[in-house]
Amino acid sequence: MDSNSKGLGDLQGILSKLDYLNDGTQHSLGIDAIWFSPFFKSPDYDYGYDISDYCQIDPRYGSLDDFQQLLEEAHERSIKVIVDLVVNHTSHLHPWFLESRSSRDSSKRNWYIWEDGRGKKNRPPNNWRNHFFGPAWTWDEKTEQYYLHSFLSEQPDLNWRNPEVMEAVGDVIRYWLNFGVDGFRLDVAHHYSKDQKMRNNPLFFAGWKDSTVKFFSDRTFMAGLMKLFALPTMQIGKYNQHQPETHEILKGFRNIFNQYPGTTSVGEIMGDNPELIASYYGQHSDELHMNFYFEMLHLRWKASAFRRCVDRWEKALPSGSWPAHALSNHDITRAISRYDFDNRGDDRARLLMLMLLTLRGTPFIYYGEEIAMREAKLSREDLRDPVGLKWYPLHEGRDGCRTPMQWSGDINAGFSNAKPWLPLGPDTDQYNVSVMDSDQQSILSFTKKLIWMRKEMPALLEGEYKAIGEVVSSKHCFCFERSAGKQRLLIYLNFSLQRQNVDLPGGNFAGRLLLSTNHERKSENNLSTVNLDGLEGCIIEICP
Ligand code: GLC
Repeated sequence: MDSNSKGLGDLQGILSKLDYLNDGTQHSLGIDAIWFSPFFKSPDYDYGYDISDYCQIDPRYGSLDDFQQLLEEAHERSIKVIVDLVVNHTSHLHPWFLESRSSRDSSKRNWYIWEDGRGKKNRPPNNWRNHFFGPAWTWDEKTEQYYLHSFLSEQPDLNWRNPEVMEAVGDVIRYWLNFGVDGFRLDVAHHYSKDQKMRNNPLFFAGWKDSTVKFFSDRTFMAGLMKLFALPTMQIGKYNQHQPETHEILKGFRNIFNQYPGTTSVGEIMGDNPELIASYYGQHSDELHMNFYFEMLHLRWKASAFRRCVDRWEKALPSGSWPAHALSNHDITRAISRYDFDNRGDDRARLLMLMLLTLRGTPFIYYGEEIAMREAKLSREDLRDPVGLKWYPLHEGRDGCRTPMQWSGDINAGFSNAKPWLPLGPDTDQYNVSVMDSDQQSILSFTKKLIWMRKEMPALLEGEYKAIGEVVSSKHCFCFERSAGKQRLLIYLNFSLQRQNVDLPGGNFAGRLLLSTNHERKSENNLSTVNLDGLEGCIIEICP
């Protein structure tokens, strides 16, 4: 929400919408926390993921006072606030890097990763490639060495082997915790540490046979292809990702978090192997509090694919650890648009929302998901994201999922009086908060109902997860049970377009329908079988 007619969302804009998020009543969405993508000072080569001052708010978004006010007002509403910790790299304009690149003798030279060129032709130190396009090394004319950047050349990687870096980042973490934030999302944390010998990465993905994930049958074709050819880098990050020392860094962070009770962390750790990703919770629960499992963002629309994915992640997690789930974020096509075929996208959106909010763990709703906001189609002139700018028209980049929140049917969807920084998504007349708020049957009303219901249900909040039936029988429906104490809930999700009859597990009890994605379904008692409509999902309570 833009508060000052500059076309860009800002902190005061968000403040004006806190009541929408949670005003303590069931009229509001009822969320418990906000994760902010970075709003720190940044020249903005990568949507703020290139930070030039970790302790200042970028003036485009507001001031430290605005953020203080936002924290206070969020906390008054029992909303916690998580900020983005982007410390694999800084901006090339961060004073640390400016100092580091000023001379080979700089006291901060070793805060970044500098290497000599190889051979007579002065080639880059190894074959590592950055995630956006091209080599991960850029030549610095002045000091005649290469520096490493796993993303843009405007995002030089910090040297995590230098203890001074840990100290400085520790100060940043403490600064925000003292300020009052409740936790951090850790950007590309699997990238922190690099191989000391700087060995070449192996080319292409060789492991499709021993992959734990069904390659093309569970993943969308594009996601399968990307994995198979390890696109876009065309190499396996064997030596520049997932180095063992990263665990020590995370333990250091956790030690700091532990001094601030009630704070949390969620990692953006990506990788092919769920056990590897789960290992970042720490052998003694002494690293991350949570991590996302990104496989879920690349699945085909298939009950068994979701079932396998959730089971795999649950199995990989160390006992007692807590999952985080998301279906969309600022880096990928919105889930709703990924599955928006045959005019049934709205039904799929409800089914996904039901799944997200009933799985075990912390659900992350991406802004606009609650109003089934779609991906925008952008032209080249509209693009801001470096990925889109490099790859267009092969790939439009990530701007399509970053468009303004759709508050109303007014001009610019009520987001701003000025031309918004990105175009709006499609059909804003239909998909906006104001229209959906007044419709009891909208996905927004359904989401509110579900969120508030969840708060009252120990089985949903903290219960065990158990999939129901064999995977082979999950061809059409993904069914699972959540239970805590005496409460047992069954979640039935019909991914097919046809009606499905599903029996409740045998036993001497009857089921009571608590909620369905189909608003026309009346509440039912004494159920032993459920007849689910196509794309319908429901929650059934088992009554002994
Ligand atoms: C993470 C962010 C992404 C960013 C990248 C580099 O993957 O989610 O938006 O481009 O890190 O910081």
